[in-house]
Amino acid sequence: SIPVIAIDGPTASGKGTVAQRVAARLGFHYLDSGALYRLTALSALRKGIDLGAEHALAKLAAALPCSFQGEHILLGQEDVTAAIRAEEVGNAASQIAILTPVRKALYGLQLGCRKAPGLVADGRDMGTVIFPHARLKVFLTASAEARAERRYKQLIDKGFSASMDDLLKDLQARDARDSQREVAPLKPAEGANVLDTSDMTADQAVEQVLSWFAV
Ligand code: CDP
Repeated sequence: SIPVIAIDGPTASGKGTVAQRVAARLGFHYLDSGALYRLTALSALRKGIDLGAEHALAKLAAALPCSFQGEHILLGQEDVTAAIRAEEVGNAASQIAILTPVRKALYGLQLGCRKAPGLVADGRDMGTVIFPHARLKVFLTASAEARAERRYKQLIDKGFSASMDDLLKDLQARDARDSQREVAPLKPAEGANVLDTSDMTADQAVEQVLSWFAV
């Protein structure tokens, strides 16, 4: 059957970078499931839909006119690759991610990404909910300080402004919301390999994941 590598972890743990590089090395497809929550959030913010209006949001998610073209993410005809990375959008994404109807609306879209020769899926519930039979499950983590620093660099590189204090606070709020929510809480999946990357480079983490996969 088509192999899946599920990589889950908290915000700014380096999942995205590691998952993308692992996918490139293996020639596998890559699913950035967080982008789906971010796209739904961006679309809701623009339409002025309340972030608690679960049915309106689920409808929006189910009909999301998004497409992935290499590194670029489109919403309709618009390239929103940079726009969905704004901190405001990430915070809104984590608010709508607590809503069961929204998660259900995005379920099929994620399952459909499993295509030959294989898939590397990155998110919060890849190993616990979406791909519980994944060939390899990884829980990637790092200290809050290391993650705040990474997020800071990412935002500055993308031309956003940022404050370390605010980022650390946002990150802790996001961690709490993601791990304490009732639906699909963030936690290592059964059988997951836990990898703390606080003192690792992305490439070292990539090598570790590849060597686990090769076993
Ligand atoms: O990059 P960062 O980790 O901040 O965010 P992301 O992976 O793009 O995901 C944004 C938000 O979507 C997270 O804070 C989660 O609340 C939510 N999410 C989720 O609930 N389940 C997933 N599989 C992926 C993201």
